[in-house]
Order: sequence, then C-alpha cells, then structure tokens
Amino acid sequence: MNINKLKADPRMPKHIAFIIDGNGRWAKKRHLIRSVGHKAGFENLKKQIQFVQDLGIKNLSMYCFSCENWKRPQDEVDYLMQLFNEMLDEFKAEYLNKDIRVIISGDMDDERLPKIVREKAKEIVELTKNKTGFIVNACINYGGRQEILKVTNELIKEGVKVVDEATFNSHLYTADMLPLDFIIRTSGEERTSNFLMWQSAYSEWYFPKSLWPSFSKKDLVKALKIYMNRERRFGGVKK
Ligand code: IPE
Ligand code: IPE
Ligand code: MG
Repeated sequence: MNINKLKADPRMPKHIAFIIDGNGRWAKKRHLIRSVGHKAGFENLKKQIQFVQDLGIKNLSMYCFSCENWKRPQDEVDYLMQLFNEMLDEFKAEYLNKDIRVIISGDMDDERLPKIVREKAKEIVELTKNKTGFIVNACINYGGRQEILKVTNELIKEGVKVVDEATFNSHLYTADMLPLDFIIRTSGEERTSNFLMWQSAYSEWYFPKSLWPSFSKKDLVKALKIYMNRERRFGGVKK
C-alpha cells in the first residue's frame, strides 16, 4: 500500500463519511451476541479514524446512532450508549493537545440519552471548537430529516422570511465542514437510512459488502481508488 502516493493525489476526497453497518451480522456469523459486534465495530472505528487522518483527509463524518435506533432492544441501546461514553472519553484524552475538532451531530438535549453522554458530548465540542485541523463529526441520535427540521425551526425563530442555501447551511451541524465528497456504507445495504440528507445531495456513494468490524485499511484504500476514478459532474457535462 503506497500511502504517500495516495495522499498526494489531487483527486483525494476532503470529506468522507462512514455509515457503520453490519456489526450485528458480524457477531451473528460468529455465534456471538450483538454487543460483541458493536465492541468490535468500535475498535475498528478508532483504527479507521486514525487512518483517515494519516491519509490527509480533512473531515470525517460517522453515523453512530440514528434517531430510529431507539427502536432496538433496551439492552442493545444501553450498550451502545456505554460505547459512546467511552468514545467521548477517548476523544478528550487524545484530541485536546492536537489540532482536532470534534463535532457531534444530533440532538444532545434528548433525555433518552444518558446525562453523562449529553454532558461529555457538549464538553468536547466546546473544548475543541476553535481548532482548524482535522474535523471528526460523530452523528449520534442523528436523523437527516430531524436536522432539516431543526434548521427550519431555528430560522423561523429568527424571523427569517426568505432562506438561501448559504443561510440554511450555516445552521447545519456540519456548517464548518467541507462539502461531503464520499459516503461509504458497509454491509451491502444500499440505502441512506436518514443520514446527512442535505449534505449528501452531490456526494458519491459506495456500498462494500464487508461488515463494519472487518472493513480494513485495505478496503478503505480500495474505496478511495474507486472514488477517485469516478467523474463528478454536478449536473454539468463531461470535460
Ligand atoms: C451498525 O450495525 C451499528 C449501529 C447501527 C449502531 P448494526 O447493529 O446495524 O448491524 P446489523 O445491520 O444488524 O448487522
Ligand atoms: C443506520 O443503520 C444507522 C447507523 C449506521 C447508525 P441501521 O442498521 O440502523 O439502518 P437500517 O435499519 O438497516 O436502515
Ligand atoms: Mg444495520
């Protein structure tokens, strides 16, 4: 794997996203309970966040828990919350002395979230808000429709009569992030499941078969090469 060659390629995306999917199936295949799959998925996520930085990609979004995931059994939800708690601790321990900004997309006032998760999420966002290097955006208790409604309601409150794209953008969780270039959804499912709906209007999508815990660095390199060979036209014509 020649990372330096890849890094230097001008076609590299600046903002990529992972829709983390297949943790449950990964565990099932090994006759393990679903939480073991989530734990393995979480370990892989840490590895991938570092690799994305090593590749020089500026922004990373990750779909960790959707507004619809509350429908899952309580013990699974509780386990995921515990993992988010751990993830926030690790962000704090590792990122405060680095040029890394953490953004949390999703409703952090929702009382279904453990208080500790809400507090830690708000704290890390506040502590890193002035950093300008790598941005990691964790989507927790997130829904694309809910985000669009959040923006709309904020604009109504401001008394705005007419809205343009730039104003709308400035109210999104991702306001300070670069345009979303590339979305990878593991496990072979080919749908958005309410992920970054506004932001993904012109993103490239890729649906590898790998289940998230076994999505490797090599798989990411393969995905990036596929992305770089696509022609993005944004409604224009072939050059
Ligand atoms: C993704 O894996 C993790 C979250 C949604 C938090 P899943 O738990 O959806 O795994 P599958 O789709 O059941 O295999
Ligand atoms: C989407 O995965 C949500 C996250 C990855 C956090 P799901 O597994 O919840 O999506 P569906 O239910 O298959 O659409
Ligand atoms: Mg799933």
